[in-house]
Amino acid sequence: VNSPPASIGLSLELVDTPALLVDLDALDENIRRMAQAASSYGVRLRPHAKTHKSPLIALRQIAHGAVGVCCQKVGEAEVMALGGVMDILIANEIWGASKLARLAALALQVKIAVCVDDAQNVADLSAAAEAYDANIEVLVDINVIGDIRTGVEPGESALRLASKVASCPGLHFAGLHAYAGKAQHIRDYSTRQSVIKHAVELVATTRNLLEQQGLQCPWITGSGTGTYRLEASSGVYTELQAGSYIFMDADYGQNLAADGGPYRDFENSLFVYSTIMSRPTADSAVLDAGLKSSSFDSGPPHICGLPDVEWVGGGDEHFNVRTPGARFPYALGDKVRLIPGHCDPTVNMHDWYVGVRNERVEAIWPVAARGCSR
Ligand SMILES: Cc1ncc(COP(=O)(O)O)c(C=O)c1O
Repeated sequence: VNSPPASIGLSLELVDTPALLVDLDALDENIRRMAQAASSYGVRLRPHAKTHKSPLIALRQIAHGAVGVCCQKVGEAEVMALGGVMDILIANEIWGASKLARLAALALQVKIAVCVDDAQNVADLSAAAEAYDANIEVLVDINVIGDIRTGVEPGESALRLASKVASCPGLHFAGLHAYAGKAQHIRDYSTRQSVIKHAVELVATTRNLLEQQGLQCPWITGSGTGTYRLEASSGVYTELQAGSYIFMDADYGQNLAADGGPYRDFENSLFVYSTIMSRPTADSAVLDAGLKSSSFDSGPPHICGLPDVEWVGGGDEHFNVRTPGARFPYALGDKVRLIPGHCDPTVNMHDWYVGVRNERVEAIWPVAARGCSR
């Protein structure tokens, strides 16, 4: 295993680079704010752990009132359970005999729930649960965004699948999963609001249909960092599964708030720490953190304190930037903080978090579920 880029007590400027930094004050503040928001709306909070992949961070969220976590993969759930998280929702569909066996075995150790959108998958899940004498909570995943993504159509299709779940041994039908993924990053608040309003209507109609047929839906879960207040105040959703709020990223930094100003509900707490390793010209620099240290799927990272810097290229281990018309303000060997374009895949590129408070290293945490994509 890669050794950590720092040790406890080191001052920030001595942390080796590239390193995944977490500002612990900002992290704790974000955890507190989301927990407070969920409690003020009277909904449960089950943060998505695919963002941080760390049971230590999950337990910090749970200590502030979260009921458990979401995971996307069985491997992530196994790591969370090993780290002491006792209540896990796989907010995703799981296919394949070996994964279903692992899921059923895990359900003997901790509370497990999973999403479904297919009758054969329900039958396979039930067979796995029976083989292990396990009990698995099941949510019917409905597609409320109308895009190509997981989930059955709201309404009759959901009713058919929920009835199937309810008839299967080893499974307990618990409610609906309705995650409006595409809505999270719609920049304009009122468009985001109207997409969620439509989603909430679909969820409510589906819930009512199921309940009229005797299939109670006490658990309705979804939502993310961009829309959490909308689902929380809907009177329909009972649980939020936002993830990115603990770290934020450059992509979420482009969302707008209701007043048209920047979306500032949470603070940036995640950074890639990087060294200026070359200065080709007065207005340019090469940093030592490239595609293997920060994800570019939502655009390049931002350099803290340099809003006008232009990304001009780079590669696996380089990030090349320019400040057109101005001198690049850092010298060779200086270190800067990058705000990643997208927090989740960036975290998955690192073995260690370096937790920093007051410019000093306070925690070294493994990214324990790094690479757990099975
Ligand atoms: C099913 C599901 N729920 C919740 C989330 C969390 O969303 P965010 O990280 O934007 O808060 C995601 C993220 O992609 C997701 O796929």
